[in-house]
Amino acid sequence: MTHPAAADLIARSNRLGSDPKNTNYAGGNTSAKGTETDPVTGQPVELVWVKGSGGDLGTLTEQGLAVLRLDRMRALVDVYPGLEREDEMVAAFDYCLHGKGGAAPSIDTAMHGLVDAPHVDHLHPDSGIAVATAADGQELTSTIFGDKVVWVPWRRPGFQLGLDIAEIKEKNPQAIGCILGGHGITAWGETSDEAERASLWIIDTAAAYIAEHSRPEPFGPPLAGYAPLPQAERRAKAAALGATIRGIASQDRPMVGHFTDTGEVLDFLASSEHPRLGALGTSCPDHFLRTKVKPLVLDLPSDAPVEDCVARLKELAVAYREDYQAYYDRHATPESPAIRGADPLIVLVPGVGMFSFGKDKQTARVAGEFYVNAINVMRGAEGLSTYAPIDEAEKFRIEYWALEEAKLQRMPKPKPLATRVALVTGAAGGIGKATAKKLAAEGACVVIADLSLEKAQAAAAEIGGSDVAVGVAADVSDEDAVQAMVDAAVLAFGGVDLVVNNAGLSLSKSLMDTTAADWDLQHNVMAKGSFLVSKATAKVMVEQEMGGDIVYISSKNSVFAGPNNIAYSATKADQAHQVRLLAAELGAHGIKVNGVNPDGVVQGSGIFASGWGANRAAVYGVEENDLGKFYAQRTILRREVLPENIANAVFVLCGPDMTHTTGLHVPVDAGVAAAFLR
Ligand SMILES: NC(=O)c1ccc[n+]([C@@H]2O[C@H](COP(=O)([O-])OP(=O)(O)OC[C@H]3O[C@@H](n4cnc5c(N)ncnc54)[C@H](O)[C@@H]3O)[C@@H](O)[C@H]2O)c1
Ligand SMILES: [Zn+2]
Repeated sequence: MTHPAAADLIARSNRLGSDPKNTNYAGGNTSAKGTETDPVTGQPVELVWVKGSGGDLGTLTEQGLAVLRLDRMRALVDVYPGLEREDEMVAAFDYCLHGKGGAAPSIDTAMHGLVDAPHVDHLHPDSGIAVATAADGQELTSTIFGDKVVWVPWRRPGFQLGLDIAEIKEKNPQAIGCILGGHGITAWGETSDEAERASLWIIDTAAAYIAEHSRPEPFGPPLAGYAPLPQAERRAKAAALGATIRGIASQDRPMVGHFTDTGEVLDFLASSEHPRLGALGTSCPDHFLRTKVKPLVLDLPSDAPVEDCVARLKELAVAYREDYQAYYDRHATPESPAIRGADPLIVLVPGVGMFSFGKDKQTARVAGEFYVNAINVMRGAEGLSTYAPIDEAEKFRIEYWALEEAKLQRMPKPKPLATRVALVTGAAGGIGKATAKKLAAEGACVVIADLSLEKAQAAAAEIGGSDVAVGVAADVSDEDAVQAMVDAAVLAFGGVDLVVNNAGLSLSKSLMDTTAADWDLQHNVMAKGSFLVSKATAKVMVEQEMGGDIVYISSKNSVFAGPNNIAYSATKADQAHQVRLLAAELGAHGIKVNGVNPDGVVQGSGIFASGWGANRAAVYGVEENDLGKFYAQRTILRREVLPENIANAVFVLCGPDMTHTTGLHVPVDAGVAAAFLR
């Protein structure tokens, strides 16, 4: 049963964490102390429940709490070997756990255990960090809060910071909390409600003070030519630049992207001080791994032509990498973890917005949220004073902290298609949906395109939230619609790496019955549609310089000749030859082009449901319901072909094991000798 102190703690944490004004995503931690009966001795034992490493306060559950024995945790003070070796204390927490101990204790556990208050909150609110990063933060703290809140000079989180805060609390019985220089706030209370009130009072009082006393235009006067473009224009420019920017961010390792054009970002970029502030970088310890020390900022006005922006971004990327390498070299010691790549994680484009990057969509999105937090912090600090983040050597000590490195090393191995952005056409149902599902299950972000937006979105929702799959409407035979679809993919995930030309439809008609309109429809959707999709997506892949895959779902009928199939089979043969032509042309860019030739996929197929199945069944003289089984009996393996079988073949062609194959067609038809390739 949950201890009442832990239950109160979870409820308080969820309330605090669900309001972004109180703390950044996964930032901060909270704790409660209480007494339980020790099952071993039957005696009362004092415990501390504290949010464990990782996880977000807004969604904290009991599983996210570490549970430690307070007597043992506090006894660590006697064996603490001093600042130089404070990191060793994290391993010692394991010897203080109660029972199985719950979640892994975080670095901030010492602060929660050592501070002599039953309830403690440590948070990263923008308003509090604004005061914490103001050049005269100490004076501001006393001006704003009197003696209710005490200033603690910057120190990297750890055992010593816990000791410092415990001492401050003891020496200042009137205080309800403190401002941690360069970092955030800590507050405490006798009850859970009192701690929550203390946290909110500090956050709201700081925010109100900033609102009242901030000078106008904290980021300086408007910068001529840097005002935000109108929404449609900035989205179009973002889509046009997205692939180049993703390539820049993916030189060391491939990244998923996120685009934001919120008011905070656009206002920042439209103001004269943004280049100076951008170069100063972020401050709160949470930020460095997520956003790197500083962003790459394009130094061209909002209306600069796309070609000029591309050229300048490439120059700036070279400079950024040199600068980052120099930062690493200035501060690394022989014990430091290896450099984790020198590419920017945040790229700012005036008038347009912000691109943020990560190993998956969620990480990329949160990196963007963190930079918005940083902008809010800089606005507050500059409004009252001068923004003064912690110095560079300290930033490096956080970014390349051995404890952080150990956390990264413990991360599960990424899935085979992690970081890859897949676009599947005609994916609202049938083979396309099964393929999108498989690619997502193997780690890809997927864009589901189909004629109906509603159906595309429903298929995406079935696969996962918007960090995994998005649905877009697109008629692949319409060039503008195809471009809009590709733009949507770039804005959703940063670019495109894996394209499946699957959209299709089938009219089974004899030569005499096939009208010119039938012919055009079949060819427009399949031959022309896949040509348009390949053209628009290959442009993105070439700009990204990250290679890629294009897969055509053609058909057994691209090689097999039978009656009543002139338009469909002819356009399938066209698609099949596009595979070979594009394999030859796009190989120079590392883009592989392959095909899958399915046959007889009845289950789940819209093509079969909409008349083709009835027609085929009539041609073969079987019940429509038995068509799948009928086809199976015609095959060499006597197996029915399912949409998942096609999906698996697409995965193999694009997965980590088929790196040296292009221009290939894989039959997935359970064996049809008449369609053997030679
Ligand atoms: N089912 C089979 O046995 C079989 C055999 C060989 C090849 N194929 C090919 O596999 C692909 C998928 O077929 P399926 O069986 O899953 O059929 P399906 O009808 O279930 O799926 C095709 C999808 O394409 C969409 N689509 C049609 N026209 C479009 C357009 N202009 N723009 C965008 N989307 C469009 C449809 O809305 C549908 O969701 C097709 O290219 C088909 O020719 C299927
Ligand atoms: Zn913190």
